[in-house]
Amino acid sequence: MTPTLLTDRLILRPPQLGDSKPIARYLNDMDVAGNLARVPFPYYLSDAEAWLRAQRADLAPSEVSFAIELADVGYVGHIGYQPVGDTAVIGYWLGKPHWGRGIMSEAAVAAIDWFFSASDAPAIHSGVFHFNQASLAIQRRLGFTETGRSSLLCLARNAELEHIDTKLTRGVWKARDK
Ligand SMILES: CC(C)(COP(=O)(O)OP(=O)(O)OC[C@H]1O[C@@H](n2cnc3c(N)ncnc32)[C@H](O)[C@@H]1OP(=O)(O)O)[C@@H](O)C(=O)NCCC(=O)NCCS
Repeated sequence: MTPTLLTDRLILRPPQLGDSKPIARYLNDMDVAGNLARVPFPYYLSDAEAWLRAQRADLAPSEVSFAIELADVGYVGHIGYQPVGDTAVIGYWLGKPHWGRGIMSEAAVAAIDWFFSASDAPAIHSGVFHFNQASLAIQRRLGFTETGRSSLLCLARNAELEHIDTKLTRGVWKARDK
């Protein structure tokens, strides 16, 4: 079951059907969708509703995803895991009006802390399309390091793009300065 996590400014909670409107509004933006692998563009309310309806309650840690709520604003974005082989891959996005205030860095710390306590996985995998310096900056500060380059389909751009693959080990996470 997806827990609810609290940080100084944020609530990370299970996604719910009522999130469909802000999800559709924020994802129907190439500056957001074009940095993500599996989000179509244009992105419709029906896409958000279909995705939310497909969410289950009985999830393994590597399948859990959180709606991110900012106090006094409500839903601002999303962070979650998906299983790839026997690894967990973290992904995230934030509606553009909320960029540049450290929100994703704050959400990621909570989501990573939770994942390493809820699972015995040795690492979390992630990565960015080669042009996504903001996301790479977040990952580097969290302790992710580059493991290689790959080619990944960006659905919104309908193109295979160079992807910087990254990984955060449990050891690096535990050893980091809080
Ligand atoms: C990437 C994203 C989640 C960042 O969210 P955010 O809350 O604005 O991020 P934060 O404020 O926590 O941190 C952004 C970091 O990027 C840095 N940054 C921002 N723009 C940058 C740029 N153009 N070049 C280099 N660094 C940049 C900031 O200085 C900050 O780093 P710092 O904390 O070390 O100073 C948000 O821009 C987004 O949703 N983008 C579209 C979707 C996306 O890219 N998702 C990730 C896919 S891998």
